Amino acid sequence: MRRRVDNRGGLTCSVQNTASPPYRFPAATQTSNPRKNIPMAIQWFPGHMHLTKKAISERIKEIDVVIELLDARLPGSSANPMLAELTGGKPALKVLNKQDLADPARTPAWLDHYNSQPATRAIELDASATTPARRLIDACHALAPTRGSMVKPMRVLICGIPNVGKSTLINTLTGKRAAKTGDEAGITKLEQRIVLADGFYLWDTPGMLWPRIIVAKSGYNLAASGAIGRNAFNEEEVALELLDYLIQHYPAALQARYKVELPPGITDEQLLEAIGRKRGAVLGKGRINLQKAAEIVIHEFRASTLGRITLETPQEFAGWLAAGQLLDAERQVKKDKIETARLVKFKKIPRPDTP
Ligand code: G4P
Repeated sequence: MRRRVDNRGGLTCSVQNTASPPYRFPAATQTSNPRKNIPMAIQWFPGHMHLTKKAISERIKEIDVVIELLDARLPGSSANPMLAELTGGKPALKVLNKQDLADPARTPAWLDHYNSQPATRAIELDASATTPARRLIDACHALAPTRGSMVKPMRVLICGIPNVGKSTLINTLTGKRAAKTGDEAGITKLEQRIVLADGFYLWDTPGMLWPRIIVAKSGYNLAASGAIGRNAFNEEEVALELLDYLIQHYPAALQARYKVELPPGITDEQLLEAIGRKRGAVLGKGRINLQKAAEIVIHEFRASTLGRITLETPQEFAGWLAAGQLLDAERQVKKDKIETARLVKFKKIPRPDTP
């Protein structure tokens, strides 16, 4: 029996340190696999997120440009869906980081996608860039041309999901190893100001995820990328989702790395077993150690030993988002019905007229 979700199931985020019930992500209807209703737990700390949210909304009034660091391998999934609302539509610079790990044939489509949005610019970057400051400064000036003098300094906020490379970028920008914002016990340091150049200030914020990932595929892609702590998800589920995508879009990379056959119709489970067998991840009596095989696949995706891979195109992500929003709206209608029935039962509201 294996994991996964049917059309009404989905990933579950069981929130730690709160009384909230686990949140069930909507089903990943966008993939071809049949799903079992076995939820996957992704855990993170919404308390941290709320503090970051608060810090951003308090700071935003005096910000000219918001830089969002995205993972170039999953630009749509690593983009904070709440950001535009949080930042009140301030000019945005999308930095597709880790582009050295992403598929170079796909990154331009994502840059075009963001560059075609109002008050938005996009650039690609990676940790090997030794002078990223000039490109960032130029892009910010293009977005806020009246700022950047001593009288009217450019005030920039930088945000992104955990592990997207924010500290690495800031260390490169400043030429020194800065403490991670939000790293301290109790999260005392919610933001830090960095002087990038004369009249150019950068405010760093802690890595942030959002409480409800309505695009189920995004949950898997975020887990595969390393944005979610390893104890917070099921590696086998994530590896299977990853393989499902790679079979369809990067079969040559799989064959080259794992020296496996990919006959038409091969399933992700069959492939995971084949990889486990090839790599000696076997238990007694010839059974495959699927956990070990899953760890190998995830590790090799992250390290790009599988090749440069991007897990979503703008069109795919738009489709997943639309499906996720639809399921979410259906879920809300159901919730509203239950709530109305409860209020009627306790005579808090009159029974609605039935047509
Ligand atoms: P964060 O502050 O956003 O949480 O991320 P951080 O800078 O700590 O980076 C997370 C991991 O991503 C680090 O690897 C870092 O080296 C790597 N990284 C950051 N930017 C890039 C990039 O553009 N390309 C590539 N290939 N990797 C990048 P790590 O293994 O967790 O740590 P370390 O071994 O580098 O210390």
